[in-house]
Amino acid sequence: MDVAVQAEGLRKSFGSTKALDGLDLTVPHGTILGLLGPNGAGKTTAVRILTTLLIPDAGRAFVAGVDVLADPTKARRLIGLTGQFAALDDYLTGRENLIMFGRLYHLSRAEAKRRADQLLERFDLTDAAGRLAKTYSGGMRRRLDIAASLIARPPVLFLDEPTTGLDPRSRLGMWEVMEGLVRDGTTMLLTTQYLRGSRPIGRLDRGHRRRPCHSRGNVERPQGSGRRHSPRAGRRVRRGGGPCGRDHAEGRRRHGADPGRS
Ligand SMILES: Nc1ncnc2c1ncn2[C@@H]1O[C@H](COP(=O)(O)OP(=O)(O)OP(=O)(O)O)[C@@H](O)[C@H]1O
Ligand SMILES: [Mg+2]
Repeated sequence: MDVAVQAEGLRKSFGSTKALDGLDLTVPHGTILGLLGPNGAGKTTAVRILTTLLIPDAGRAFVAGVDVLADPTKARRLIGLTGQFAALDDYLTGRENLIMFGRLYHLSRAEAKRRADQLLERFDLTDAAGRLAKTYSGGMRRRLDIAASLIARPPVLFLDEPTTGLDPRSRLGMWEVMEGLVRDGTTMLLTTQYLRGSRPIGRLDRGHRRRPCHSRGNVERPQGSGRRHSPRAGRRVRRGGGPCGRDHAEGRRRHGADPGRS
């Protein structure tokens, strides 16, 4: 198995608060892993450690085989991150924001503009490209923020609550974009608080991974959508059961399977 992200025994406490208490996870290359957990479960802490922003008290973490603690600079070249809260400049337009991020990643001016225009189109923001980010709706800001994390085409992408605050239509649109990224070879680890309709997820609760296991995903459409994914080329769809049981299922999907739409 070609592993893109691996965590072994991650522990992190803030004073007397145990945010992570021995987290293990593995994300194979070209798949999505969703981490599901309530407020305070430790999701953001896990993402911050995996993206070199926080040092754990114990444990190890690797991105594409690079030890994020031993070689954070190298690890940063391999990852994109969209944090839980947007990192945009409100007084730049959407397009200017993306160009700025491109330049920060050392793209040439021409390449940064080209990439910005590609991403604006991909995230359905072309019409709003010339407006200041502060005039964007919450969903538009979220899309722009995720676009910014993709500017340098990172092979591994971390998304902290990418669909929180989006309306159902925007959420579905976001999942489609994420599926497209995975089809193009990006590996993704995302966090979410949405249980409804979610299945293929590692659950975090007070720093513990609930029933860690490596079963295949139990993949389904959002509740109420009236249909399940039909297996089609490249999709692996499994229902319930499995060694993790329905409520504690972890799943991953390769090329277009669903990480638990919310
Ligand atoms: N810098 C910090 N200082 C003190 N406590 C912290 C810090 N960061 C996180 N914590 C605590 O660690 C625990 C896990 O927080 P974390 O932000 O990882 O949770 P989360 O699963 O991302 O929650 P949410 O769904 O609300 O975003 C919480 O109890 C939180 O208060
Ligand atoms: Mg969080």
